[in-house]
Amino acid sequence: MKTIKDVDISGKRVFIRVDFNVPLDIHQNIVDDSRIRAVLRTLEYALDHNAKLIIASHIGRPNGKIVPEMSLSLVAKRLGRLLGKDIVMANDCIGSDVKTLIDRMKPADIVLLENLRYHSEEQKNEDTFAKELAELCDVYINDAFAVSHRINASVVAITKFAPVSAAGFLLQKELFYFKNALADPKRPLVAILGGSKVSSKIDALENMLHHVNKFIIGGAMANTFLKSAGYDMGKSKVEMNLIGVATSVMKKAAERGIKFYLPVDAVVASDFDAGAEIKIVPIQEIPESWIALDIGPATSLLYSQALYDAKTIIWNGPMGVFEMEAFSRGTFAMAHSVANSYALSIVGGGDTDVAIHQSGETDRITYISTGGGAFLALMEGKTLPAVAALDNT
Ligand code: 3PG
Repeated sequence: MKTIKDVDISGKRVFIRVDFNVPLDIHQNIVDDSRIRAVLRTLEYALDHNAKLIIASHIGRPNGKIVPEMSLSLVAKRLGRLLGKDIVMANDCIGSDVKTLIDRMKPADIVLLENLRYHSEEQKNEDTFAKELAELCDVYINDAFAVSHRINASVVAITKFAPVSAAGFLLQKELFYFKNALADPKRPLVAILGGSKVSSKIDALENMLHHVNKFIIGGAMANTFLKSAGYDMGKSKVEMNLIGVATSVMKKAAERGIKFYLPVDAVVASDFDAGAEIKIVPIQEIPESWIALDIGPATSLLYSQALYDAKTIIWNGPMGVFEMEAFSRGTFAMAHSVANSYALSIVGGGDTDVAIHQSGETDRITYISTGGGAFLALMEGKTLPAVAALDNT
């Protein structure tokens, strides 16, 4: 894939599509700026080469409407501070005002365009909109891995109209790590899958069956597997329509000699509430009206032992409802186990990334992906549409 290093950007108008869809709290503060920091290398490289930087992103899901709470101006300040540069905030991402602003740019100036998703054409991948974006630049760079699974105009259609298209360092790095982990991994290769639903992970499970030596399952999705293995899960969330799928995945894993780890105990609560009564029980003893909300300590120990010999680990999805302190220990214990392992570890998924950061283990994980859906799409064995579009140019 052609990268930013392969194209002449000096003095050129370089349109860099990034993913600044960062989490915000109720006061509109940025809770985690990893996605901004992750593209600094590309932005600094472009600045060092005297490019005129036109940065574009979406934030949130405004669905084609102007929603002031979803303005990228929220990100402009942080970006300016991290780069040590003034950022000029555009009032839109297309139109005559934006064109004028860009015409006036000098080398190493930075313009941040307003939320691409204020225009419904973005998510419809419309050519006319993509062409207008492309006309703003001489070179188009995609460094927005986290949105590269979407067929959106600024990552797919734009490559048809931009004079030159290439990948940024982040996109390149994300693909490199994932490909390395799956193409010729050091074994044992362990996939840790958690989160709330089997339904959202079926394709990843099916695809990873072709690659892994061990599966470690946690989160509410483990309940469906446990139910299919015959355990009574009380009032825990179980996807009854997927019991057959769960059985079939475990059968295929057994046929291929893949170790399939399920929780042996759970933190259960009388109610889905931070203040509810809780206790730790073996999986065989979940009371009738109680809910499993985290893996228990015996499971954490078992899972850490299962990781002792791992040489490659791919992790997506928390082990429990870690947002509530009472049900966070399983996920944090897993973060410590992955960090303590001698494996190349790759972690992806919005919730999982947040959990890793909260656990304080960020620096001891080999690679933390910026992607949620995009990371899952790679686990599903899919080619990302934006990557395919770049490859086609
Ligand atoms: C993400 O946060 O996963 C990406 O920015 C994509 O956002 P979306 O799910 O709203 O398309």
